Amino acid sequence: PASLAGRFKGSFAYFTIKDRMPQILTRVIDTLHRHKNEFFEEHGEKGIEAEKSAIALLSKLRNELQTDKPLVPMNDGLPDIPLWNQYLEYQRNLSDGNEQPSWFQSPWLYVECYMYRRIHEAVIQNPPIDDYDVFKEGKVQNFFESQQAIIALCTYLQELLKNIEDLDEKQLQEEFFKLLQVSLWGNKCDLSISVGEDNSQKVNPFKSLDDMKPFILVDDMESLWSLLINSKKRRTSKEVIRVDVVLDNAGYELITDLVLADFLLSSKLVTEIHFHGKCIPWYISDTTKRDFNWAIKQLQSANNKWMSRCGINWEGSIEKGVWVYHDHMFWTLPHEFCSMPQVATDLFAELQKSNLIIFKGDLNYRKLTRDRKWEFTVPFHQTLNKFHPAPLCSLRTLKSDVQVGLKPGQGEQLMTSEPEWMISGKYAVVQFDASL
Ligand code: F6P
Ligand code: MG
Repeated sequence: PASLAGRFKGSFAYFTIKDRMPQILTRVIDTLHRHKNEFFEEHGEKGIEAEKSAIALLSKLRNELQTDKPLVPMNDGLPDIPLWNQYLEYQRNLSDGNEQPSWFQSPWLYVECYMYRRIHEAVIQNPPIDDYDVFKEGKVQNFFESQQAIIALCTYLQELLKNIEDLDEKQLQEEFFKLLQVSLWGNKCDLSISVGEDNSQKVNPFKSLDDMKPFILVDDMESLWSLLINSKKRRTSKEVIRVDVVLDNAGYELITDLVLADFLLSSKLVTEIHFHGKCIPWYISDTTKRDFNWAIKQLQSANNKWMSRCGINWEGSIEKGVWVYHDHMFWTLPHEFCSMPQVATDLFAELQKSNLIIFKGDLNYRKLTRDRKWEFTVPFHQTLNKFHPAPLCSLRTLKSDVQVGLKPGQGEQLMTSEPEWMISGKYAVVQFDASL
């Protein structure tokens, strides 16, 4: 099937490229502008000049987007540039050279990633502000505005850990399902779908779980549980059981992922957790190494004893090497995941060591399923196009026009009863693919 693209008028891709992406660029420009004084205080006139020059590049970018100009090669000296420019070449060849790849003609996934990479290019080319994360402010705000929910999570976890040794299999499974769902719904809180507007978690995350259960369209939680409990039972004493979490958003969602990770380790269902984050600021709220470390530091020094206990324990897990943070430039390329073995052989080899890979969020789902106009009933496995480093699972709330693996009629029914079902974040999937 065809890739989702802006050329399909009236689609969410079209609306995103026409309205949402220019709005995001305007917000980035505004952010730089508002921090002018800070740049001046830190770097003097040079800071102001850099801010102006970055804004000029971003305005130019916005103009190119709005007038559907051809996409141009990038050139900021970072190691991923050859891959980006090759990808542009590849897109050119796809259209037989008749048409230049452009914002509305090319695949949505590609042009959207391209925009975020160009934002980074505009900043990185302008020292002394080249280290500035234009999305930091929003991520920090999301964390603080979700404070009550974070306290509820940390408190729940610490109470649970007190008697985790005494839980029987059934009880352990119940807790796993609970924390998995908290992490799933945590994905509602990304700042890309809200164009950077506040989208924090305001209510106690445990309260609404039962009410939200019917909105999980594909629920493979049982399969995940079988995989984990069976590998625990079969485990020989020194064997490593490893779960990889391909992280999505910082702020509240990240805390839900860390809570789940802590539970998996403390319950001895696994022995190692590997996290994968982004090398550069991405899709507004995605987690970078700085965001990851910042969150743990914030918890450590929090006034609430359960929060600080979580922070201290998690720092300890990193020191012990049972929590490992990785980043890789592949995650911020426009490529579909099925091209990972060729494009990022080292990352693919790393993921093959995993017993289970959890992909968080909507963008990862789009890259897994290749962002196509799939029929709703096409099997998830088929859309992966042979991408199987290890058993894998997507935890995703629906925020874009792609959904596969539904029962016959399920998608059509939602289409009539709730036209916005695919983009509202109200629905979710826990979708598992075991086969290698
Ligand atoms: O353009 C928006 C989008 O690509 C949506 O598909 C999705 O809502 C968002 O960005 C990213 O969501 P997530 O943080 O869940 O990957
Ligand atoms: Mg995201």
